[in-house]
Amino acid sequence: EKIAVLFGGDSAERDVSLNSGAAVVKGLEQFGYQVLAIDTQGFSLTDLHALKVDRVFIALHGRGGEDGCLQGALEYMKIPYTGSGVLGSALSMDKVRSKQLFKASGIATAAFYVINREDYQQADLSSILVQLGGKVMVKPAKEGSSIGMSIASNSEQLKQSVAVALKYDQQVLIEQWLSGAEYTVAILGDDALPAIRMETPNEFYDYQAKYQSQTTLYHCPCGLSEEQEVRLQALALRAFKSTGAKGWGRVDVMQDESGNWQVLEVNTVPGMTESSLVPKAAKQAGLSFSALTERILQLSVA
Ligand code: DAL
Ligand code: MG
Repeated sequence: EKIAVLFGGDSAERDVSLNSGAAVVKGLEQFGYQVLAIDTQGFSLTDLHALKVDRVFIALHGRGGEDGCLQGALEYMKIPYTGSGVLGSALSMDKVRSKQLFKASGIATAAFYVINREDYQQADLSSILVQLGGKVMVKPAKEGSSIGMSIASNSEQLKQSVAVALKYDQQVLIEQWLSGAEYTVAILGDDALPAIRMETPNEFYDYQAKYQSQTTLYHCPCGLSEEQEVRLQALALRAFKSTGAKGWGRVDVMQDESGNWQVLEVNTVPGMTESSLVPKAAKQAGLSFSALTERILQLSVA
């Protein structure tokens, strides 16, 4: 089988994807696969047929690669690919739709408000801020790696935060601030891997804390009792299924001030560098990076 690993691309998460792609290529090669490493920036997908590619490993993050667009093109070309399909990818990429699905499925998620570009000027930001408890996290609806995200605790800041998020998307999510610990649960097939707790000295787990910091701590085992961890894993699996995600992914969850779980989002192409979260969880479960890439690939075989 000839496998193409697609990475890079044009999204705001290009740099992260360059690292994920390189690591995945190495992992699959170690397993003995014939691998083509393809940066999709400037690449025409139709060349996949000419290159006689049998299967695609998607290592693209964010717009274009993680949001259902690439998945749709590959469906059309009848080339099988790793991870979620068109609908699951699109719904998971969109934090607003995801939260609506969580709510409909009885999965707790922080209170929120949505601003569309066209109603930004008329929005009563002060009253939104009050309704959401005075401190909020502002996010572009469809981004990754905390890009375009910021915290606001007064109306002036909120105006600024919404303006920043609108640079990345037409739609912005204003979410109630969660003051508790942040956890993540990797999903592989129908199983949840050991949870990881992230600890950062930054105000939140932002881009710097994710990719450039020496001071972010990753706890795996995460420190929860076995019973609590099993509950967190079950919650993550439910959230994963609620957006129609499949194959593999990662569900991010935070605790609120009362210690209750609030699901943040589902990532359908989570980071796959050697130091990323899913590989960390896999390692804890006894799966090497290389074996993880092979497993993700095998899960795409119908
Ligand atoms: N969006 C980044 C790659 C992640 O979720 O790991
Ligand atoms: Mg994400």
